[in-house]
Amino acid sequence: MIRIINGTTRVCGVIGNPIEHTMSPMLHNFLAERAGMNMVYVPFRVEENRVADVIKGACGLNILGLNVTVPYKKEVIASLAEIDLGAREIGAVNTLVRVEDGYKGYNTDISGLFRAMTERNISIKEQAVIMIGAGGAAKAVAYLLGREGANTVYLLNRTIEKAVELASDMNRRFAKNVFVPMALSDYQKIPKGSYLAIQTTSVGMYPGTGQAPIEDEEFYQKIHTGIDLIYRPLKTRFMNYVEAAGGITINGLSMLLYQGVTAFELWNERTVSGALVSQAYELLKEALAEYEE
Ligand code: ATR
Repeated sequence: MIRIINGTTRVCGVIGNPIEHTMSPMLHNFLAERAGMNMVYVPFRVEENRVADVIKGACGLNILGLNVTVPYKKEVIASLAEIDLGAREIGAVNTLVRVEDGYKGYNTDISGLFRAMTERNISIKEQAVIMIGAGGAAKAVAYLLGREGANTVYLLNRTIEKAVELASDMNRRFAKNVFVPMALSDYQKIPKGSYLAIQTTSVGMYPGTGQAPIEDEEFYQKIHTGIDLIYRPLKTRFMNYVEAAGGITINGLSMLLYQGVTAFELWNERTVSGALVSQAYELLKEALAEYEE
């Protein structure tokens, strides 16, 4: 792929540490090329305590936008000129967009998951949901479920205290008793029913691919749709269980894809076509397959 970089090329990138394994440059440079945007996207490894300098420097260089990944999604907030409501409420920013006096922070992990679900006609409104995990990624998921009007969310976590904390945060935020915290080991206490389940823990992620957070076929009979935020592997043991019980599944690659597409759209003020999104999905899928060989 030969790209011409000239005096009007806009620069975007991703900051994090480590950053070597990011797939975002591949995604954004592909989208830019196919959508005919004169934009390049590069990875920046940022050392501890340099985030404020980086944002100031990026602003001085007139960098169009940045993604922010682990471990800086929270720390970067102090350096922003503006922040989007959802990002502020979950306290995590993954996308910066240039505004007049600096950057505005967004969380496209939330919108990315929502788009991945909408695309597959999976609704949240009035639904009964089981969420597994109460860490950083779970916060964005819980916020989305609350915002979109889930009926009940059983929030399971190995460490019950974290489930209790996240559930009460969200119940307070949405002024409703939607979230019910539970210890992961108490999963059998979830009432009979048909649930949407979202798996947000790292259990089952490469190299621990032989694991699922709940090892009980009967549990998966309750799930009509299972979403796993993990994308390595593309099909986790959790997803295998859901499918074996007759449910449908979505992997974390769709969420990763849509968080990127949404960031790209914010920077370039244009929408990416469905056809291009599908091509980008195939590209990421192939890259992952190579990575796993
Ligand atoms: P992330 O930002 O990816 O969500 P995190 O904030 O460290 O990462 O959260 C990891 C989540 O995976 C937590 O819900 C964690 O459960 P605990 O709060 O009990 O630590 C969950 N998790 C990690 N390893 C687990 C395991 N072996 N069994 C069950 N849950 C696990």
